[in-house]
Amino acid sequence: MKENKATLTFDDGREPIDLPVLSGTLGPDVIDIRKLSAYNLFTFDPGFLSTASCDSGITYVDGERGMLYYRGYPIEQLARGSDFVEVCYLLLYGELPAPAQKARFSETLFSHALLHEQVNSFFRGFRRDAHPMSVMVGVVGALSSFYHDALDISDAAHRELSAFRLLAKLPTIAAWCYKYSIGQPFMYPQEGLGYAENFLYMMFATPSGSYRPDPVSVQAMDRILILHADHEQNASTSTVRLAGSSGANPFACIAAGLASLWGPAHGGANEAVVKMLEEIGDVSRIGQYVKRAKTKGDPFRLMGFGHRVYKNMDPRAEVMRATCHEVLDALGLEQDPLFKIALALESVALEDDYFIEKKLYPNVDFYSGIVLRALRIPTSMFTVIFALARTAGWVAQWNEMISDPQRKIGRPRQLYTGRALRDYVPLERREAPDPSTTG
Ligand code: CMC
Repeated sequence: MKENKATLTFDDGREPIDLPVLSGTLGPDVIDIRKLSAYNLFTFDPGFLSTASCDSGITYVDGERGMLYYRGYPIEQLARGSDFVEVCYLLLYGELPAPAQKARFSETLFSHALLHEQVNSFFRGFRRDAHPMSVMVGVVGALSSFYHDALDISDAAHRELSAFRLLAKLPTIAAWCYKYSIGQPFMYPQEGLGYAENFLYMMFATPSGSYRPDPVSVQAMDRILILHADHEQNASTSTVRLAGSSGANPFACIAAGLASLWGPAHGGANEAVVKMLEEIGDVSRIGQYVKRAKTKGDPFRLMGFGHRVYKNMDPRAEVMRATCHEVLDALGLEQDPLFKIALALESVALEDDYFIEKKLYPNVDFYSGIVLRALRIPTSMFTVIFALARTAGWVAQWNEMISDPQRKIGRPRQLYTGRALRDYVPLERREAPDPSTTG
């Protein structure tokens, strides 16, 4: 990295501090503030709006220009020409696989797709009406008790084996979460089916039927997985890195990522989109919902609009929008009432000054929610599918961090705003504080 310098000056007569400015391959420069703590100074950036938490060579997002690259490849090219298994390989190893490498990688993943048979009974500890994400967090966290033969994170071979296990087993776990919730028998992965195909098979096949996923659904699912595979240092990926920085095992770290992803401002958004469209219920009611979203003080937001990083159209949303039309057309669902509401909402928001000024464009989850619904995936499974895809990024980012010889445990500091030092008061001398005067 090329070095430049920034100088921090103070009004109180303190000596200025020179700070290196680092340039990456793409994107904004960063001011290297690592030595500030030696001056007893911290930076303050709640929500990490101006903080690069790490250096990474995996994914690049340019929110202003609406660009997303995995290892330098634009997401649009990968979505059109690649498949999810190839993208997993790319994220993990940094290069697209040659044909023989791809075949071997696919075989390896398939060979790890089964779950230890005892995981089966682990599922049964959950209530059937539990949200599938709560089951995912539990089951994935529990994998470290089943696969503890390769948990030495300092050993690259162990890390690789854990990565294979996570990538391969997540579709099985995700599908079983669904099967468990509807009381159907668990289905096992089938040789000869691709990654997305096997996932759909395990979701919808039954031992008594002859279900085979249709190619339109398989391609749409594969595309959803590619588009959600990684997104640099978002909340869940940062959670995985922070959990992993202490040396925690990869299964525990991915379970932490799952928990973070579950929130409605992150991975829960596609589920929230469909719920919102159902609540709107009719095109005639869109105006009142848009009005609420714009009203200061009303917590209601249009789900599927806006993004912390993209202040332009999310490139994933463009691909997903096209996929959405392809799928609805192929499945004969273009007259679906919910889809009509979605399209009307999309055009209202795209033309409304509030959304234009605040650069609130439809995001990928606006369209992926509609596609998933068209594929008959129940809403409660949407975030699970996002998690299934993002596991590829989490694993690659975790591996990158652990392989870094400079790795340190993540330990942010704070601006303390609590009470200053005071003496302990014994119980008998305490009076109940007046609630009207206490915060
Ligand atoms: N509807 C109405 N107003 C909005 C919306 C929305 N969806 N999103 C942001 N705003 C307004 C917000 O009220 C604020 O207005 P003001 O400046 O007057 O206070 C302004 O836009 C900036 O909002 P912010 O919350 O400061 O922006 P942020 O970057 O912190 O939040 C976001 C980004 C994605 C959390 C937010 O846009 C949002 O809640 N969107 C809806 C949920 C959603 O679709 N999330 C999925 C994100 S994509 C999936 C992923 O990558 O994880």
